[in-house]
This record gives sequence, C-alpha cells and structure tokens, in this order.
Amino acid sequence: MEKIDWSELSFNYTKTKSNVRAYFRNGKWSDLEVSESDRFNMHISATALHYGQQAFEGLKAFRGKDGRIRLFRWQENAKRLQRSARGILMPEVPTELFRQAVFQVIEANHEYVPPYESGASLYLRPMLFGSGPTIGVKPSPEYTFVVFVVPVGPYFKEGFKPVRMLITREFDRAAPLGTGTYKVGGNYAASLASQRKAHELGFANVIYLDAKEKKYIDECGPANFFAIRGNQYITPKSSSILESITNKSLMTLAQELGMEVERRRIPEEELGTFDEVGACGTAAVISPISEIMDHMNQKVFRFCPDGKAGPVSTRLYNRLRAIQYGDSPDPYGWVTVMGFGQTAPSPEQPADESLPSKTVG
Ligand code: PLP
Ligand code: COI
Repeated sequence: MEKIDWSELSFNYTKTKSNVRAYFRNGKWSDLEVSESDRFNMHISATALHYGQQAFEGLKAFRGKDGRIRLFRWQENAKRLQRSARGILMPEVPTELFRQAVFQVIEANHEYVPPYESGASLYLRPMLFGSGPTIGVKPSPEYTFVVFVVPVGPYFKEGFKPVRMLITREFDRAAPLGTGTYKVGGNYAASLASQRKAHELGFANVIYLDAKEKKYIDECGPANFFAIRGNQYITPKSSSILESITNKSLMTLAQELGMEVERRRIPEEELGTFDEVGACGTAAVISPISEIMDHMNQKVFRFCPDGKAGPVSTRLYNRLRAIQYGDSPDPYGWVTVMGFGQTAPSPEQPADESLPSKTVG
C-alpha cells in the first residue's frame, strides 16, 4: 500500500486494494466476488451506458480513537438503493447482500480507513447498473452490483468553513415527478453545467429552486438544505429532492437539542429571516453557507457575519461527528462497530469502553 497523507485528503479517487461485485442473471443474484481491478469489461449495449439505468449510494466508515472502525447507518443506504432500483426498474439488492458487500469491502480495505486524528473517513460507493445488452429502451436483462471504497477528506475544500452558493434559475436538477428522489446518475449529469457555472463565478455550488414554480428552495448541489431560525430547524419538503440520511440524522439531533423540526416548502424570500443556513450530506457532512446570491433577482442573502459557522450548525456538526467517530454514545443505534481492522488506540486519547453500540464481524 502506498503511503497516504491522510490529513491532505480531499474528495478524490484513490485506488484501494479491492472491490466487491455481484451479478443479477436469470432472475437471481450471484454470490459476491472480490476484484483487485478498478475496471469493468462492459457490453457496448449495456442500458447503464445508453439509457442511464444506474443508481448509486454513498456512506462512510470512520476510525475511532479506540482504533475501531464504525460504519454509519448502512441500513438506510441499503433501503434507499432499493428505492432507487424500484424507481428505474432494476432488481433490488437484498439487504443481506448489501450488508455482506459493505462489511466485506471494508474488511478487505481496512488499512485505507484513515486514522482518527486525520478527521478523514472511508467513503463507500455502492453502485447498481444495467449491464446486459439491450438496444431498445427497456430494462436490462442483467445487472451488476459493485461496492468500492475511497479514503476521503472534505467534499467542499473549505471543510467546515462557510461557502458561497448561487441560486440557479437557468437549470433544473430534477422535475417534480421525475427522478430527483432517486439517487440515479442522470440527476448528477443534469447538475454538471450549473455547477460549472457556479464555480466559474466563484461559488462552491448552486442552490436549485423547485422546477415548477421557481419559488421554493430545493437542494444545494449534491446535498440537502437546512436553515436555523431561533429554536427551529427547517428543511425543504419537495418531490424532487433526495431524502438525505445526514439530514434525517440532523433532524433527530436538532430535536435532541430541544429544537422544533419543520419539513416544509421554503420560499426563497424566507432566506432573509434565517439565522444560519447550510448544506448537508454524507460527503459534505455540514457545509455552512455564508452567502446565497440570486443574480437574476439581484438579491444577496448573507449569513455568518464573523466568517465562522453559526452556533447551532456547529453544535449539530460536533454531535454528529462525535457519534460517527465513537467519541459520544450512540443512543440511536446508528453506528455499527466492525469486529475487524482494529488499530492501536491513539496514545494520547485512550479508548472509551462504554461507547460502541453494536459490534459485528
Ligand atoms: N442530495 C443529493 C442530490 C445528494 O447527492 C446527496 C448525497 O448523497 C444528498 C442530498 C445527501 O444525502 P445523504 O445525507 O444521504 O448522503
Ligand atoms: C454523498 O454525499 O454521498 C454524495 O453522493 C454526494 C456526491 C459526492 C454525489
């Protein structure tokens, strides 16, 4: 294994030791196989390549200060992949196959789970796609399920520092009755041009408005949007956004802080009334937002007057990270502690024996 500078990791691809794969043929799933190649041999007529019959997931494993590896809410990702599969007529990956795949790939690549001190993590990317030959527009006769892993640092290079976002009116990511609630590649292809435009204008990413009325806040690039006003945690309800597992977790943690949680439509003009706003997701964790620009309407909404994340976003971020890394108890059973791949506990920070909720392996 090549030496990795863990603290310098960004959200980029690094080849790891192996990935796992299973195939759906003749109506049933094969056993998992392990591959050390990061390539596929694909049929030129695979539906994934022509018609975007493809879905993916993203989840993370963290190394605690006790040296153990903790996987966050994998069951939710298994469920969401099943939902995406149903949405574009692919066979569901059974939860047990998903479990075996993610546990096996982490075990095989445990040396790539970054050390506690680095603040980095191991990102798991499950994928499901139509790999059989079809030329008409119809579901594939065969499917491939793959899980590979990549050690990663922050998604936005700013990490937990506030970023600027651009409201886009020229592009939609997904339509109200389209595929926005599924984690399918087409939604991300549809986001590339607007993202490039945001980058060219010096913004971290775009905020999409609802595609029908262009009135309500939808999503924030590849992350959900949330806002804090006084004792309220407010996040969009929309039929074109992905239901974020991070956002769901933050809603629970906000309630734990005694906050009221509201999931509802958020008109753009309400932005001016919020104390804090942010983007949240597995890759982004929480990305506080310092400015939202609506070029077309000549409006700018500013937050983080001192240039730092607001107090509530900071508390939520710290609480979530503490559960993920095993620094705090996990009262919700979100974390699965792996029974393999343990490294020596960090010498300055001895392990807290009382923390792990579930150990497997
Ligand atoms: N929205 C979009 C479009 C995403 O790609 C993601 C990332 O997965 C999210 C929201 C956040 O979801 P989660 O917290 O489950 O990663
Ligand atoms: C995630 O947060 O897991 C994502 O999938 C976002 C992005 C990298 C596509």
